[in-house]
Amino acid sequence: MSEELRTVWWEPGAVCLIDQRRLPHAQETVRCSELAAVAWAINAMVVRGAPAIGCTAAYGMALAAELSAAGTPDELLAELEQAKATLDAQRPTAVNLAWATGRVLTQARVAAAHGVAAIRAAVLTEAHAILAEDLAMCHAIGEHGAALIPPRGHVLTHCNAGGLATAGYGTALAPIRTAFTRGRAVHVFVDETRPFLQGARLTAWELQQAGIPLTLITDNMAGYMMRRGAIDCVIVGADRIVANGDTANKIGTYSLAVLARAHGLPFYVAAPSSTIDLQLAHGDQIPIEERSAAEVTHLGGQLIAPAGVHAAHPAFDVTPNELITAIITERGVIYPPFSEGLRAAVGERR
Ligand code: MRU
Repeated sequence: MSEELRTVWWEPGAVCLIDQRRLPHAQETVRCSELAAVAWAINAMVVRGAPAIGCTAAYGMALAAELSAAGTPDELLAELEQAKATLDAQRPTAVNLAWATGRVLTQARVAAAHGVAAIRAAVLTEAHAILAEDLAMCHAIGEHGAALIPPRGHVLTHCNAGGLATAGYGTALAPIRTAFTRGRAVHVFVDETRPFLQGARLTAWELQQAGIPLTLITDNMAGYMMRRGAIDCVIVGADRIVANGDTANKIGTYSLAVLARAHGLPFYVAAPSSTIDLQLAHGDQIPIEERSAAEVTHLGGQLIAPAGVHAAHPAFDVTPNELITAIITERGVIYPPFSEGLRAAVGERR
């Protein structure tokens, strides 16, 4: 992705998003000028990827504050609490969403003593800070993770954990980008990522834009590729990493982790500390978003299964910590057992 192409940005009176449903064929902007539109855009996956939806929700809070007719700080705080509940409910698995709206709400409460205008200013300032910090965290993940890429540099990734899924630069793609920029050999095997095709549509496009060599494969080719020695390691992103290191990410990630273990390959998770949730002890407690079965029975709006067939669509799965070689964060690389390292990473974050 070019540095100029932004995932999410603020314009006075609107949260702006590149429409990820239309990529790679069209680069269109969706301008959300009311809270309901921001909530819809998150739910409909106009914007997707855990850090990117966190940034979007933070700006959604700023929009709610800007549009509010509240006359007192208490009234405005009550509206922002409601806005947070609305936004958080849109995608339950990615913890970055509630983390970002929580951070914004905290700053709104701090500013409340100084009046309604002070709350509005504080909320927008915090949203800008969340976006800027996310970009910085992604670059730091790139620094820490690049050294883990084996010499031949054949990396398998799943879904899109690139610039489009963040404020820019990405998480799983960050070590790859950094290694490539430094002249290291890299070749990325990109899972197409059924059913929403984030790999085929978004990751393949981002890597192509950056000039990074890639091979697009269907999800069910991963085992074959590993067995014939085409893959050196796997790097994926995360939607929620809980206290013991169990990690929720796009459906299909768990299968890759099992395959990587069976073939003796390192399996890395790359994520900023905003994706860590120490409130949950283990992965079975992570809420898994169930999306519409129509996203499975249809491809590009076209029915590909018998009409009326029953289909399931869990959008995420959980990879148990024992299948994860290391977790790459902006603070450094965390090795098993993960609990202590995760606590330290969270302890240092805002
Ligand atoms: O359903 P999506 O496209 O929002 O799922 C995205 C993923 O699973 C990503 O791997 C994860 O959010 C990390 S993005 C840096």
